[in-house]
Amino acid sequence: MIQIQNLHKSFGTLEVLKGIDLSIPKGTTAVIIGPSGSGKTTLLRCLNLLEIPDQGNIQLGDQIIQFKAGAKLKSKEVVDFRKNTGMVFQGYNLFPHLTALENVMEGQVTVLKRSKTDAEAKARKLLEKVGLKERADMYPHQLSGGQQQRVGIARAMAMDPQVLLFDEPTSALDPELVGEVLKVMKDLAKENMTMVVVTHEMQFAQDVADQVIFMDQGVVVEKGTPEQVFQQTSNQRTLQFLNKVSSR
Ligand SMILES: Nc1ncnc2c1ncn2[C@@H]1O[C@H](COP(=O)(O)OP(=O)(O)OP(=O)(O)O)[C@@H](O)[C@H]1O
Ligand SMILES: [Mg+2]
Repeated sequence: MIQIQNLHKSFGTLEVLKGIDLSIPKGTTAVIIGPSGSGKTTLLRCLNLLEIPDQGNIQLGDQIIQFKAGAKLKSKEVVDFRKNTGMVFQGYNLFPHLTALENVMEGQVTVLKRSKTDAEAKARKLLEKVGLKERADMYPHQLSGGQQQRVGIARAMAMDPQVLLFDEPTSALDPELVGEVLKVMKDLAKENMTMVVVTHEMQFAQDVADQVIFMDQGVVVEKGTPEQVFQQTSNQRTLQFLNKVSSR
């Protein structure tokens, strides 16, 4: 379970997150939607402590971190927290000089100190899960964008995180490759992986999200089931956004 309370983040004088409250139960998928610049990426980066929030608190499992401007976090606290949040980015960020298999082994060996044998066994299992069993020994440049992104998902999963964070995982892909990545994410949702997904794929949100969160200008404007947000909303800002997205 992830609980976010009163989360604030500014860059200089620009306040990007203006007091975010969210609750994401274990085993559920939350999809975050909203216009460009609304703070979606910043929120995900705060959840992974790639950005340190100025105020508020985040609970992940039984770990709670409180943020106060100027207060320094303990590095052990940060490391523990990061281990539990796997991030999948828009670009694939794979190590170019490592094979798919080695990419999925890397963090297991260096961060989690697993033996190479265990790390390899786990990596092979995960590559099979994302449909890339036969591609384990290929380098990123030998893989399509969709395949690279699936390696990225396997790599994040290999760390056994409590939650997977996705920042527009399909937006850099050619349209014909989007489906294979969404399919992997759908399977993970079915297996009750806890996921927070920023995406413009409204059909995915409709089909897979337990909770849809609409952000605009640094606040959560509305959250609810896909039906509540997509079909039943009477909120003007939500309606305006949905209109824009559907007419693209
Ligand atoms: N490191 C940074 N330094 C200064 N400003 C930043 C930084 N990161 C983000 N911002 C600003 O914060 C605001 C929110 O950015 P963010 O990337 O979170 O939006 P987003 O909702 O993910 O947008 P998009 O849909 O375009 O990805 C933007 O105005 C952006 O310019
Ligand atoms: Mg973004």
